[in-house]
Amino acid sequence: MRILLGVGGGIAAYKAAELARALMERGATVETVMTRSAREFIQPLTFASLTGNKVITDLFASGSSDQDTLSSAIEHIRAARDNELLLVAPCTADLLAKFAHGLADDFLSTTYLAFTGKIVLAPAMNVNMWNHAAVQANLATLRARGHIIVEPEAGYLACGMTGPGRLAEPKHIAEVAVRALQQREDLSGETVLISAGPTQEPLDPVRYISNRSSGKMGYALAEAARDRGARVILVSGPVNLTAPAGVEVVRVRTALEMRDAIIGRLPEASIIIKSAAVADYHVAKVPEQKVKKTAAKVSIDLDPTPDILAECGRLKGDRILIGFAAETQNMVAEARRKMEVKNCDMVVGNLVSERGIGFESDNNAVTLVLRSGEVEQVAVAPKREIADRILDQITKLRLAAVQ
Ligand code: PMT
Repeated sequence: MRILLGVGGGIAAYKAAELARALMERGATVETVMTRSAREFIQPLTFASLTGNKVITDLFASGSSDQDTLSSAIEHIRAARDNELLLVAPCTADLLAKFAHGLADDFLSTTYLAFTGKIVLAPAMNVNMWNHAAVQANLATLRARGHIIVEPEAGYLACGMTGPGRLAEPKHIAEVAVRALQQREDLSGETVLISAGPTQEPLDPVRYISNRSSGKMGYALAEAARDRGARVILVSGPVNLTAPAGVEVVRVRTALEMRDAIIGRLPEASIIIKSAAVADYHVAKVPEQKVKKTAAKVSIDLDPTPDILAECGRLKGDRILIGFAAETQNMVAEARRKMEVKNCDMVVGNLVSERGIGFESDNNAVTLVLRSGEVEQVAVAPKREIADRILDQITKLRLAAVQ
């Protein structure tokens, strides 16, 4: 694995040294490019010592001969050609703008344009800069180009403000970069139908019943399946997430709408993953006008919603069907029960009573319960990593089915 590490100028530049080490621990050869402002924060010698490679700093190095000047002028082409992945961390707002708009006025931005391999960007900046429409528009452009963005973390920032903007943990960035290089195309030829997020069941025109699902787990699954070569159809309840580029999104609100979308698209699918947190009950006949408040107690008659997973289980044929089980107790037993009753090939048990995992969190920890009786525990990790572990099991199920 040959990785070109671009270091931008920001207070997080010192963390790039830890990142270089984390990449090397994972077997990568690292070559470093530093912008002029990065060198205000950390010395090239640090990276040269860590990686054992010369650090590139200037587009036009002042060589002792014309030949030196020429070779440094074409060095960005050599660096772009010799490396498999360009990782920029910290990626400043300025670098994001240059990359998005194709500006090339230093070594890193010219290398970016010459680079044909995979690109991973780990931004870090002040929270207001991160939230600015211009930065978000540049990020959207870069995502649409297929680059992987390692989102900054939320927390206390060097500028004294709190919010998203802090460079992600170096180990996590290294993991994303290495995974991008090792990416398998083991789902190519498959169409994966994924449900994500909550549903909202109206009580009247202004109120609804819902749950805490953010959609992050389902969106991570969609992104991971896309990266592994699948065609992905994502049926999403109402969430505040940007859909992964290249994934077809069908937006729904209620359990009934989700049922129609899933069952309507099921014939196209070879794998179905039901990670949505579908409401179990709804008001069958929603009042047309807002219900007025009175002093009296109220009770609401709720009818069960259609059980979409069970219906998929009846229609699945030779498709692979994966259910989820969000539980607060007896998770494995419940997952097994759901697998039997709903004819699933695997159920992903999610203990949602644990802090820091399950609903809303960026992390999860799950138990994969298989029809064979096998049970695999997947320890706490970012949802994208959990998604890959779920897909690893699905590819094994697919292999077993064709043997
Ligand atoms: O969205 P996040 O914030 O990232 O959180 C992730 C998650 C906790 C929502 C997710 O990992 C998860 O556990 N999803 C399933 C939630 C759920 O509704 O579990 P359940 O045990 O109530 O349902 C079991 C299965 O039946 C699920 O696959 C569900 O999609 C399906 N179901 C449920 C009700 C219904 N009417 N139709 C269904 O198909």
